[in-house]
Amino acid sequence: MDNPKIIAIYGSPRREGNTATLLKKAVEGARDGGAEVEEIVLRDLKMSPCLEIYGCKNAGECRLKDDFQTARDQILAAQGMMLASPVFFYTVSAHTKILMDRFQSLWVKKYWIDKTHKDQSSSRRQGLFIAVGATKGKKLFDGILLSLKYFFDVIDMSLWKSLLYRGLDFEGDVLKFPEYLDEAYEAGREFVGAIKTELIE
Ligand SMILES: Cc1cc2nc3c(=O)[nH]c(=O)nc-3n(C[C@H](O)[C@H](O)[C@H](O)COP(=O)(O)O)c2cc1C
Repeated sequence: MDNPKIIAIYGSPRREGNTATLLKKAVEGARDGGAEVEEIVLRDLKMSPCLEIYGCKNAGECRLKDDFQTARDQILAAQGMMLASPVFFYTVSAHTKILMDRFQSLWVKKYWIDKTHKDQSSSRRQGLFIAVGATKGKKLFDGILLSLKYFFDVIDMSLWKSLLYRGLDFEGDVLKFPEYLDEAYEAGREFVGAIKTELIE
């Protein structure tokens, strides 16, 4: 079997922030586990927010032409996705949200154009999600996980695992918790095994 392809998406505006550090560990783990990993740093892309013009109603193709199309193709070609975002106002970062919203074009294709039934959606592709917030409340990740659930549904992906860390705020805070970094590395490694199993079955 070919090495599984995984796309890793950095959703924080900080290049060396807490989520980026954790995701880099997961990428390392996934590569050591035998995956081919491509990385997308959202802050480096030129991507407009969805303008809600519904140009996608004709063929399911977003009319705004920018870096979205390449990112979309990379995401849809991968057998697994590792996505990391900080919690911003109880949801994902703006960079991550812009990407999610642009996938509305695929939602339109699936449900309006192809008239896919909700329960016809296949989700053999798998996702690992990493999120970090500064506070420690019980509901810190409720909003983000709900957004993620519906985003994953659109891209035919099921959530394999989420690594959620509270109480990390400043750049470098995560380095004080080597156990979080080890957990991210292990998750990246195990993720490859989970993808391989899914592909065989
Ligand atoms: C615009 C903005 C909004 C934020 N909103 C929240 C929030 O709702 N809850 C929270 O616990 N932390 C919030 N934070 C703190 C970040 O989640 C925290 O600093 C995190 O460690 C950043 O991750 P990063 O280093 O990967 O960017 C916010 C930070 C910013 C800049």
